[in-house]
Amino acid sequence: MTTRTLEQIIPSQATSDGAGVKLRRSLGQSPDLRHDPFLLLDEFGTDKPEDYLAGFPEHPHRGFETVTYMLDGHMRHGDHLGHSGDLKAGGVQWMTAGRGIVHSEMPQQAEGRMRGFQLWVNLPAAEKMKAAGYRDLQPEDIPVVSLPRGGKVKVIAGRFTHAEQETAGPIRGLTTDPTYLDVELPAGGQISQPVPADYSAFVYAYEGTLEVGAENARKTLPAQAAGLLSSGERIEVAAGREGARFILLAGRPIGEPIVQYGPFVMNTPEEINQAVRDFQTGALTAY
Ligand code: CO
Repeated sequence: MTTRTLEQIIPSQATSDGAGVKLRRSLGQSPDLRHDPFLLLDEFGTDKPEDYLAGFPEHPHRGFETVTYMLDGHMRHGDHLGHSGDLKAGGVQWMTAGRGIVHSEMPQQAEGRMRGFQLWVNLPAAEKMKAAGYRDLQPEDIPVVSLPRGGKVKVIAGRFTHAEQETAGPIRGLTTDPTYLDVELPAGGQISQPVPADYSAFVYAYEGTLEVGAENARKTLPAQAAGLLSSGERIEVAAGREGARFILLAGRPIGEPIVQYGPFVMNTPEEINQAVRDFQTGALTAY
């Protein structure tokens, strides 16, 4: 069984989005820093209210999915369809923008820590114009596997296999067949995760450093950087000396051309022009 190696490191860069929310972007800094089907990864994490209070006021999306995972804090989500929901610590919102959504995400706290991730997952051409939809996951909807030598794994999407026991997350049935794990390991702790050999995969440590790869070929991944993995049937990750917390993503590549203009991700420039026109005329959300 081939074990994946650490192939490329994308350090995150400080940036801001929405109405000035400070965050760190790794995937998606530029068009060549994607990992099909994953388009973008933002980590937001701050104890300073001025870094997040302005939130993410109304903005559109078309052509892909946004996945918001809250580690700490409380945001309220609302959209043009009248859907609204609370994003609380430990919860996940898996939103399919499809043919169009206009939404906002606004902090529901004036102090304290706000921390989490937003991931963008592409949709294949055949699904880019489907109706928008949501899966709102509360913390109790997400299974947690305790590891015998300490540490735990939250299974948001896909499956985690340990000691021949398989735990499935609540997100399933997507064409990109994503795996999304949130892993906490003590110093030297490790996981070994089987994965289809041709799927794209990466890990991102938000606390501590990681040792990635088979025991005789490990490479170090620093904190707050996306580590893109080679192909292979197994992902092996160990925590460094301080222990680590990281997310692990894997998914089936789509293999189609990508044309992105801000919050619209389509296959051709014509489709992007159409998205901009549809947003301007209101057709993006008139369905
Ligand atoms: Co958005």
